[in-house]
Amino acid sequence: MTYEFILVDQPAAGVGRVQLNRPQALNALSSPLLDEVMAAMRAFNSDDGIGALILTGNDKAFAAGADIKEMEGKTAIDMLMTRSLTDRLDLKMHSKPIIAAVSGYALGGGCEIAMSCDMIVASETAVFGQPEINLGILPGAGGTQRLTRSVGKALAMEIMLTDRRLSAEEALRYGLVNRVAPLDEYMDVAINIAQKVAGKSQVAARLTKEAINQAYETSLETGLAFERRNFLLAFGSEDKSEGMRAFIEKRRPAWRNR
Ligand code: CAA
Repeated sequence: MTYEFILVDQPAAGVGRVQLNRPQALNALSSPLLDEVMAAMRAFNSDDGIGALILTGNDKAFAAGADIKEMEGKTAIDMLMTRSLTDRLDLKMHSKPIIAAVSGYALGGGCEIAMSCDMIVASETAVFGQPEINLGILPGAGGTQRLTRSVGKALAMEIMLTDRRLSAEEALRYGLVNRVAPLDEYMDVAINIAQKVAGKSQVAARLTKEAINQAYETSLETGLAFERRNFLLAFGSEDKSEGMRAFIEKRRPAWRNR
């Protein structure tokens, strides 16, 4: 498949990468771009040879948010009849872990998409923010919820009410990102983490991702029950037998992802 607004490749064995490629608009998240990202991510997600995904932009911008020029003429009912951009990307339905590799601007919908990935690796130049208040609106793709859960209420209020931007180091300190690396290294760090994930059993990785995500959705008791169910499911996998046998035989496991 050929794309106009994204680049797609496999930078390492088992790792699929989708790069937003609308640099003249700082990767503003237009509908055609979102459709392409969704198609590419879905294709990787259903590819048995892929164990982890990277979503990235360019050095200057991960994404500067929803496309303001596209939204300018939209009414409330137009927006009602379209799903939010994170819902349209549907990253939560992807069973494979997704790492956002973020450099430069991750603003508005850009920050929201990064937060809906499973991990974030940032370059030292990354800037995170939710500047929607400057447009007379508020975050509409998870910002008020996901950012608040990551950084806490006080800082979330300041970010979203005053357009305070977080540097990469601040984002690390407040728990929004996993790693910060120099500009010429952050992609290698993201690929390295993705390769580690891709080297695990896809069955175990999927059950783990699902269970961690439940921690955001439910009470502790319900989350523990969900974890237990997935733990038991793992015991039905061939990878469980292989993983334990390999440990005892002192060799590397050969995952079958079954
Ligand atoms: N939508 C559409 N176009 C955008 C854009 C956006 N979100 N962000 C940048 N662009 C475009 C600019 O219009 C400009 O295009 P032209 O050359 O045709 O004028 C081009 O990208 C380069 O941008 P700037 O000239 O502004 O670049 P800069 O380096 O001076 O500033 C910036 C960079 C601070 C990121 C600035 O572009 C900016 O503030 N962008 C908007 C950020 C924003 O408000 N994001 C939130 C959007 S709303 C949202 O995301 C809602 C939601 O929650 C779903």
